[in-house]
Amino acid sequence: MTNLNSSLRRLSNFYREIEFEMNEQMNTSFDLQAKTWDDDPAKTTRAQAVAQEIRAQVPLATHMTALEYGCGTGLLSFALQAQFKHITLADSSSGMLEVLQGKITSGGITNMSPLKLDLLTDPLPQEKHHVIHSLMTLHHVSDIDAVLQGLYSLLTAPGYLCIADLDSEDGSFHGPDFSGHKGFDRDALQEQAKQAGFRNTRFSTVFTIRKGVAGGGEKDFPVFLMIAEKH
Ligand SMILES: C[S@@+](CC[C@H](N)C(=O)[O-])C[C@H]1O[C@@H](n2cnc3c(N)ncnc32)[C@H](O)[C@@H]1O
Repeated sequence: MTNLNSSLRRLSNFYREIEFEMNEQMNTSFDLQAKTWDDDPAKTTRAQAVAQEIRAQVPLATHMTALEYGCGTGLLSFALQAQFKHITLADSSSGMLEVLQGKITSGGITNMSPLKLDLLTDPLPQEKHHVIHSLMTLHHVSDIDAVLQGLYSLLTAPGYLCIADLDSEDGSFHGPDFSGHKGFDRDALQEQAKQAGFRNTRFSTVFTIRKGVAGGGEKDFPVFLMIAEKH
C-alpha cells in the first residue's frame, strides 16, 4: 500500500511537472507574440463583434465591474471599456500584460488594470465581478472544469459569464503541434458549465475567422459566444 501511494504521488508530480512545462512553453509563445498582436486588424474586428453581442445580450450598467480572463493585449475590454465602472484584465503572459499596460498608460485610461493570473495555478483573487468575459482563451486552457469553477467563484450573484471561442474543428486552426482543445462542442461545454453551477446557458455565433491552413487554402472557423448566468 505504501509503495502504491508513493508511486501514485510520483506519477501525480510527474503530470504536474509536464503541465507546468507546457504552460511555460505556451506563455513564452504568447510573450513573443505580444508586441505584434495588435498589428492584425482581424483581431480587433472579432473583439468588436463579440463586444457588440455582449452588449446586445447582457444588461450592462456603468456601476458594474468586470473581469476579462485571458485578455492578451485587452482588445475585447477596450471595446467594452465605456460600459463598466472598472475592468480587471487577467492573463498568464507577462509579455501580453506589458503591452496592455503600455496601452492603458498611453491612453490615460483610469478604469482598467492588468492582473497576472492563471486560475490553474494561482490562488483565487478575493474580488468578485458582475461580468466575466473571455475571447479565444478557453481552447488554450488544459483543465476546463477547474477554470469554469474558478470563474463561477469570481462572479457575483447575479452575474454573467461571456465566453467566446471556437466551435469544434478538425485541428487545422493551430495545426498538428497544438496540444490545446480543437474548439468546443456546444452541448458538452453547456454541460460542463452546468456542473460548475451556471444556469440559463445559451449560445450564438458571433464571428467567423477565415484562416490559411497547412496544406494550402483557407478555411472558415466559426466563433460562438456562450452566455451563462450565476443566480
Ligand atoms: C489567443 S490569445 C487571445 C487574447 C485576447 N483575448 C484576444 O482575443 O486578442 C489567448 C490568451 O490567453 C492567455 N492564456 C492562455 N492560457 C491561460 C491561462 N491558463 N490563464 C490565463 N491566461 C491564459 C494567453 O496568454 C493569451 O494572451
